[in-house]
Amino acid sequence: MADKLIIFDTTLRDGEQSPGASMTREEKLRIARQLERLRVDVIEAGFAASSNGDFDAVKAIADVVRESTVCSLARANDRDISRAAEALKGAARARIHTFIATSALHMEKKLRMTPDQVFEQAKLSVRFARKLCDDVEFSPEDGYRSDVDFLCRVLEMAIKEGATTINIPDTVGYAVPELYGGFIKTLRERIPNADKAVWSVHCHNDLGMAVANSLAGVKIGGARQVECTINGLGERAGNCSLEEVVMAVRTRRDYFGLELGIDTTQIVPASRMVSQTTGFVVQPNKAVVGANAFAHASGIHQDGVLKARDTYEIMRAEDVGWTANRIVLGKLSGRNAFKQRLQELGIALDSEADINAAFARFKDLADRKSEIFDEDILALVNDETVTHQHEHYRLLALSQHSETGERPHARVSFAIGETEYKTESDGNGPVDASLKAIESKVASGAELLLYSVNAITTGSTESQGEVTVRLQLGGRIVNGVGADPDIVVASAKAYLAALNKLHHGPDRVPAQG
Ligand code: KIV
Ligand code: ZN
Repeated sequence: MADKLIIFDTTLRDGEQSPGASMTREEKLRIARQLERLRVDVIEAGFAASSNGDFDAVKAIADVVRESTVCSLARANDRDISRAAEALKGAARARIHTFIATSALHMEKKLRMTPDQVFEQAKLSVRFARKLCDDVEFSPEDGYRSDVDFLCRVLEMAIKEGATTINIPDTVGYAVPELYGGFIKTLRERIPNADKAVWSVHCHNDLGMAVANSLAGVKIGGARQVECTINGLGERAGNCSLEEVVMAVRTRRDYFGLELGIDTTQIVPASRMVSQTTGFVVQPNKAVVGANAFAHASGIHQDGVLKARDTYEIMRAEDVGWTANRIVLGKLSGRNAFKQRLQELGIALDSEADINAAFARFKDLADRKSEIFDEDILALVNDETVTHQHEHYRLLALSQHSETGERPHARVSFAIGETEYKTESDGNGPVDASLKAIESKVASGAELLLYSVNAITTGSTESQGEVTVRLQLGGRIVNGVGADPDIVVASAKAYLAALNKLHHGPDRVPAQG
């Protein structure tokens, strides 16, 4: 068998660090199950020591995922490493990923530590992590901008102390492919015990080269693990995109000569799940998972594809899961069919009461929309968290009036905790009026950073509108997502969902802290 390339997904850790992308425990669990169906080798489930919420999410994922290794990030100190080990106790296969910055800039300005102190701390941390877990990954943060002699010293020691994977982050996305690939090659050649560890690449996309750099790390540098996220989700310009790296290695097997364990037909469902959950919309021309990735608009291309598909297509849409956009249920579908579809989609609702509530919403939607797709069900379950009894802010009813030449007016009833409120407002448009009506009562003072509307399923005005609202308050940024065939209602749900996140949000320490 040819060499295997390990796919390490960090959507739930590095991806989630993207402002506004924070997810609830249930959302993370749902995505982890989808990542397992996608058959990623390693799921970085979070950073257990950063907050109780993160600890619970890592633990919940470790307890249910059986096929993929589950990993937690930990700074290079005993407390973080112990918390990671504790959260991972139930995992079938666990990994602790510990890191400390090694570039002169980070050591001096951020850590205020000397290189010798960093060396000692890394040594004690890898040693301690290895006592708690057989599978230990070590990352020198800002590794690509670190002094190569110092890095060789640190990495040789980390392998000697038992690190089984050595990951080289391009933390700030500064690398270019040839140089990054060459850097990994140099490290592997110079470090005497390099062959005792798997080498891994971790690239950020600030210059748009995260995928190219990762592939160069594999091809030139000999790395055999790629760290990546679904849709390239991540801080700033994001991380290396899983779907692009996977499809490059698979489509150009002639060049890379590497095996993958991935079930590529699960790529598009994973992409949709991540975008619907976080509200980070996928651009239409995004490789592999963008709505236009397989659409041939020009006459010449259409003609060519009809005569012989490979004239213009290097991958088949169905191989990456583009067939998933199918009608799954309708008005006459019963509760059992609905429940089964939830299971097939990896959605585990906590109780029969939650399933009943979701089913009631499904029936309501099916009355208004003749064809219900997987994406509709996912949106409906995401919405469920907005209207669910334990949520602080819940939409009860909304009516609005807009007429040419008149100023639109909205009336909204919603609950805050146990109390119901009725409120109304004018606005520039019906959406503006509805959100102003809510804000006039809540008085959150949050700043609206983004408002966007998308059709959940393409090709019909019957589609549900999916609205993302991004709010900022006191340094925290959250996204709220709401869906409904009526986009004004979807907007109100999205606004309340964002307020709920501000209300419940975890206070966590930053991973790069
Ligand atoms: O980008 C980075 O340096 C990281 C490390 C914590 C691995 O995400
Ligand atoms: Zn990173």
